[in-house]
Amino acid sequence: MQKRIRKAVFPVAGLGTRFLPATKANPKEMLPVVDKPLVQYAAEEAIKAGIEVLIFITGRNKRSIPDHFDKAYELETELEERGKLKRLEEVQGIIPKGVTCVYIRQSEALGLGHAVSCAEAVVGDEPFAVILADDLIDCDSGTCCLGQMVEQYEQHGGSILGVERVPKEHTDRYGIVSVSNFKNRLGRLEGIVEKPKPEKAPSNLGVVGRYVLSPSIFRVLKETPPGAGGELQLTDAIARLMDEEPVYAYEFKGRRYDCGDKLGYLQATVEYGLKHPELGAAFGEYLKSMHQIRAVV
Ligand code: UTP
Repeated sequence: MQKRIRKAVFPVAGLGTRFLPATKANPKEMLPVVDKPLVQYAAEEAIKAGIEVLIFITGRNKRSIPDHFDKAYELETELEERGKLKRLEEVQGIIPKGVTCVYIRQSEALGLGHAVSCAEAVVGDEPFAVILADDLIDCDSGTCCLGQMVEQYEQHGGSILGVERVPKEHTDRYGIVSVSNFKNRLGRLEGIVEKPKPEKAPSNLGVVGRYVLSPSIFRVLKETPPGAGGELQLTDAIARLMDEEPVYAYEFKGRRYDCGDKLGYLQATVEYGLKHPELGAAFGEYLKSMHQIRAVV
């Protein structure tokens, strides 16, 4: 019987340089896709997967994240007085009862591995999840990505990396894994290389922003020297962990949008706009009319 995954770490202290100048004073995780910030989609996914403690690793210019998840007395009173009860419910329901938010400050952006290591005192000796909020994953009405990974963890234990098939020419944007015994979307991790050139990539399975990690990762992170860009890389620590304990790669079902990248963000905005219960139909009509105008011009 595996220990339950109760805690999820959200590293949100990165600089977001690919999205400047929008991220100069605002965190990229607060960029909205239609009407919700990325970090709220990530929190909702974790909560659906059964997570009870959300641990945010924040940095400078990130105050709006705790504010977003905190109670907003003035706003709630205003909404109530104006009879906007549906909006009030939405605002109050962001974090359901029984779910706790914890904030830890990463004082310098020393890398994703370093950000994860900042959570050690709160995670303790339990397996835990890591979610990168700028990877927005749409699983339609099926089990969410982290939920699928928790199910895999319950069957196999170990640590699990969420992976997807990436175009061969884009392998140099991802950690690329090699796996053995790949069956039913899951394989045992044999190797992981950070951003290899297409001709050097061991496969086309790229790691995305979802992980279930054994608490041994904290010790391994301490033993891992800084890697690419002088940052402590989570990938380097996982490559070491793999020699000690089972690590798996799981090809989740769903569509991922890289919202840390401007094109991925725009694609997510269009797709989520089209699916939005209040806006979808009108937005679809608008896109059709634009397409017709362009076709004529
Ligand atoms: P990215 O590699 O996307 O880096 O980090 P970034 O700085 O956020 O964005 P770009 O590449 O400069 O545009 C992956 C995740 O790890 C977090 C980021 O917030 C993001 O969710 N991170 C990264 C930290 O929390 N701390 C760090 O030191 C580095």
